[in-house]
Amino acid sequence: MDNGKLPVAILGATGAVGQRFIQLLEDHPWFEVRELFASERSAGKPYREAANWVLDGGPPSRVGELVVQLLGGAVSSPLVFSALPKEAAVELEPKLAAQGKIVCTNASAYRMTPDVPLLLAEVNGDHVALLDRQRATRGWSTGALIANSNCTAMPVVMTLAPLRQFGVKRVHVVSQQAISGAGYPGVPSMDMIDNVIPYVSGDEEKLETETLKMLGTFDGEQITPLDTRIGASCTRVPVLDGHLVHVSVELEERPTHAQIREAWACFRGSPEVASLPSSPALPVVYLEQHDRPQPRRDRMIGAGMATAVGRLRDCPLLGYKYFALSHNTIRGAAGSSIQNAELLARRGYIDSFRPN
Ligand SMILES: NC(=O)c1ccc[n+]([C@@H]2O[C@H](COP(=O)([O-])OP(=O)(O)OC[C@H]3O[C@@H](n4cnc5c(N)ncnc54)[C@H](OP(=O)(O)O)[C@@H]3O)[C@@H](O)[C@H]2O)c1
Repeated sequence: MDNGKLPVAILGATGAVGQRFIQLLEDHPWFEVRELFASERSAGKPYREAANWVLDGGPPSRVGELVVQLLGGAVSSPLVFSALPKEAAVELEPKLAAQGKIVCTNASAYRMTPDVPLLLAEVNGDHVALLDRQRATRGWSTGALIANSNCTAMPVVMTLAPLRQFGVKRVHVVSQQAISGAGYPGVPSMDMIDNVIPYVSGDEEKLETETLKMLGTFDGEQITPLDTRIGASCTRVPVLDGHLVHVSVELEERPTHAQIREAWACFRGSPEVASLPSSPALPVVYLEQHDRPQPRRDRMIGAGMATAVGRLRDCPLLGYKYFALSHNTIRGAAGSSIQNAELLARRGYIDSFRPN
């Protein structure tokens, strides 16, 4: 920690989410990328050769020179961001946590594990205290495993959290998910151009379960999921970044549209969460125009960390309906993971590291 920053390792550094981690961590005030891990395909090469960089510009020059290591080798950084597929994550992530690492994962393997916080800092920042139980039951003194949400659940959770005060009874979601959500190289172009694919493997089940865990309550021992029913249908569309969802919701109370919009506009994380380096000033931003939110125009609101919402209107079936949009590799993956690590640092869960 020569410059006072906490060394960070990225697992799956060459993929869609791994690249986003590297981009977002450039010049991060607390964390510095020191180690990169990926498969045999990339190991042994400098990052600039190993990664087919798909974001704007190129990788930061210092990181571009780091040699990618083979996954499974020793990790020395205390903080580990994982952008691995589930199959590669499942054994390794708890192993690293048992070795004392703070592991912030984007993989789905442990999202629904009872002692793993599924954190979306503005919505359920208090769930971070579940780590005390995780450490006690697993015998981990400095290590921890925390997950962040599926990228499609993100805009749903962000917009339903402010509506909990009205009693959320039933929810129906239809998604239009960007191709970067399938990783790199993802869906073949001949399947994707001029097309919509009405199937995204596993995402409907994840939306119907992870959403309720994130919106649930923590009593100091365990998380009780929100008592609401959700039905989801997921599609893949030829958009590069940004998952758009259409949400229909039934509420116990009958708030006016103005009250719902007020709830979104006033929604904030705790002051502690709001002060984290990656937190957007406004987590939920309502767009007035009749034809918004749109992925290309609105995914970078709040540096990609805000959820854009629009077209609130009456629904003849459930009462209310609207569209919401989140950037899938920023708010839906790397950006949220970094924000979660910032929260852990603030709360003192990262051994011998206290941020300024
Ligand atoms: N894309 C999104 O919007 C998004 C959002 C939320 C969560 N997630 C989750 O985040 C994770 C990463 O997604 P992604 O979209 O970035 O995937 P991706 O583009 O396919 O990247 C996968 C990364 O993992 C590495 N990898 C794959 N198999 C490996 C193995 N057996 N051993 C070691 N390294 C291996 C790859 O390395 P090589 O390049 O060397 O093969 C690459 O760096 C997944 O669990 C995904 O479900 C993705």
